[in-house]
Amino acid sequence: MVPDKLHYLRLMGITPWIRRDLASSLVHTPQETVAATDIAEPGKGGVMSALSAEQPMPTELLDWDALRARVAACQRCELHATRTQTVFGVGAPNADLMIVGEAPGEREDALGEPFVGRAGQLLNAMLQAIGLDRKSVFISNVLKCRPPRNRDPKIEESMQCGPYLDRQIALVRPKLLLAVGRIAAQTLLQTKISIGRLRGRQHRYGVSDLPLLVTYHPAYLLRSPAEKYRAWQDLKQVRRMLEERALGD
Ligand code: URA
Repeated sequence: MVPDKLHYLRLMGITPWIRRDLASSLVHTPQETVAATDIAEPGKGGVMSALSAEQPMPTELLDWDALRARVAACQRCELHATRTQTVFGVGAPNADLMIVGEAPGEREDALGEPFVGRAGQLLNAMLQAIGLDRKSVFISNVLKCRPPRNRDPKIEESMQCGPYLDRQIALVRPKLLLAVGRIAAQTLLQTKISIGRLRGRQHRYGVSDLPLLVTYHPAYLLRSPAEKYRAWQDLKQVRRMLEERALGD
């Protein structure tokens, strides 16, 4: 039985059988790592494994600082080899609105902060238009590392990075998620439906059933300014939903 499994069993209130002679060598810490040497399982009777290496705490149990450190050290996909640094996210860790973009670009990779290039300036202006600023929301991306030449994220990269975003959302517990752009929207909603059809209506995200809205990516709006009118409709819906939720508190 691996330490992760042991941890989950304990969380579920199940006491696993542990060989008495080995129990004292089982170290369980609330920190980042859990180490075990040997555990027997009911019914199996024998030695399951001889684990001596430290096992990382599952991402879904990390606190904010441990998650940040886990992301900074991540080597789960090939992007770690080409990044300057990881881009964790910026803003208020208890924000009502969490904005999710696609992936860091060149400037974000250089500065370690999401949405700091031209698209970021437009995002700031969009937020200001509804009375918010980037310090009062939390901004993150599907990927925490820059894909070379800003290519689209690969499926396996999104899959490897997904638990980080899920954990960020679980820790921030925003009242509303805003996916900016096709990649963020399709990744969060696990769909291939076009952004044109996803925007303009309310979705739900994950087991927490968080309300989620979709709008165009600011980089797309820079290329297609005529669509700013539709983005403004989306932003007004964001503002309305935040106001409704503030009243509901
Ligand atoms: N585009 C994104 O999707 N995210 C960033 O952080 C920057 C540009």
